[in-house]
This record gives sequence, C-alpha cells and structure tokens, in this order.
Amino acid sequence: MAEIRLLQGDCMEMLDGVPDGSMDMVLTDPPYSSGGLFAGDRKLDTRTKYCAKEYNGAGRFQSFSGDNMDQRSFTEFLRMVLNKCRRKSKPESICAVFIDWRNLPAATDALQAAGWIYRGIVVWDKGNSRPIPNRFRNDCEYVVWGANGRRPTKYEKGALVLPGCYRVSSVPTTQKHHQTEKPIELLERLIAICPEGGTVLDPFMGSGSTGVACVNTGRGFTGIELDPAYFQTAQERINAAQ
Ligand SMILES: C[S@@+](CC[C@H](N)C(=O)[O-])C[C@H]1O[C@@H](n2cnc3c(N)ncnc32)[C@H](O)[C@@H]1O
Repeated sequence: MAEIRLLQGDCMEMLDGVPDGSMDMVLTDPPYSSGGLFAGDRKLDTRTKYCAKEYNGAGRFQSFSGDNMDQRSFTEFLRMVLNKCRRKSKPESICAVFIDWRNLPAATDALQAAGWIYRGIVVWDKGNSRPIPNRFRNDCEYVVWGANGRRPTKYEKGALVLPGCYRVSSVPTTQKHHQTEKPIELLERLIAICPEGGTVLDPFMGSGSTGVACVNTGRGFTGIELDPAYFQTAQERINAAQ
C-alpha cells in the first residue's frame, strides 16, 4: 500500500524532513489571506471571515492561522513554501495550488517565483455563492498549476486528458470538518494527474481532505498541518479512509 506520512508543525520547518526529489505531485490549499478587500478585513480571524457564525453550525470551527498576511507578505510566504516543495518534487511533476479571485495574481506570481513553470489555471465551479446585487457572482475558486520542468506533452493513443473546469458542489457546512474544506470528489479528480502509486504532498492539509482523496485513489500522501486540533482531525479522517 502507498505510504501515508502525516507531520504536525510549521511546513517551513517540516518540509526539511521530506526527502528531496521524492514527490510526484504537490496539491495544496494554503490559507488564502483573503476574505476581504481591505487590509482591515483581511486581518479578521477566519471564523469571522469565512463562517456566518452560527449559520448551519459553522461557528463550531476554530480559526486557523496564516490567513491575515497582506498581499506582498502572502506572495513571499507562498513563494518560499512552493520553492521548498519544488525541491522535494520529482522532475516534470505537477504543483497545483487552490486560491480565490482576490489573491489569484499573488498565487501565480508565487508559483513562478518558486521556480515552477506556470502552465495554467483550473476553474473550480462551486455551483453556489452569495448573490450580490449589481455584480457578478464569485461562483468559482481556482487551482493555479505548474510543472517542475518542461513536462513534454505526448500525443499518443490512451494519453491522459483532463478537464480545465470542474463543477463540484462545495461541502455542506453541516458535513464539514474544516472552515475551508475542499470536496473529496474534486481532489480525487485533480489527483488523477499524479501517476497511480505516486505520492502527493500537501503542506497545508487542514482536516486532511487531500489525504483521504489519496487513500481512495491509491496514491501515497505526505501531509503537514500546523494546528494540533486540525491535525488530529486529519489523522482520524485518513485512518478511517484507510
Ligand atoms: C485552507 S486550510 C486547508 C483546508 C483543507 N484543504 C481541508 O480540506 O481541510 C489551510 C490550513 O493550513 C494550516 N496552516 C497555516 N499555516 C501553516 C503553516 N505554516 N504550516 C502548516 N500548516 C499551516 C491552517 O491551520 C489550515 O488548517
């Protein structure tokens, strides 16, 4: 069975213990440092930013850290993490990073400055969002992706071809394990680009959704989480999936 490795701590330190050149894919959902237009909004705790407190029980989630950097700090922080992740990754492997519309430019900068070759943006159509009068809705989040090298295309019979746009409903609040949890179905479909039996690295694993998707699809997983309570949730979910 593919190896599952879960590490609790700051990814900037914990990544040093991951063997160089060992990962087949990085798939991660960092704190977006978003959730507002102005500096004052972004500094609010994540509970206030992302949960309508007691709506559907969302108030049960604790806030997580790393989410109130200004845009330049966020870009630099993400660059440093993605650069370390690149060192841990095999040549030609893929790095895919979730982000929302506000920090999309910061994420594409960070990915490129970290040394990944920027290849595109996958759209996650969540199928729901707040209606905002006189504006376009923000129905989508994005997955900025790049490769660790040229990653040549091979036009051959049976070659893997994946969509650039995924419509998957977000996790209902009543079923969530984390404030900003990503749906397992979406993660499984993104992980399809990682070779079977390969290992996926997630330096911001939260409640371990990427790990669950890896177990379900026969991939190995290395996950890092700073917060002890979310780390425990990730361990429990991944153990249950195994
Ligand atoms: C957006 S959430 C990930 C949610 C995850 N995709 C899920 O489905 O549960 C980002 C996570 O990164 C963690 N985090 C923040 N800073 C970190 C750091 N320096 N090292 C490791 N984890 C960190 C936060 O505690 C938070 O749980």
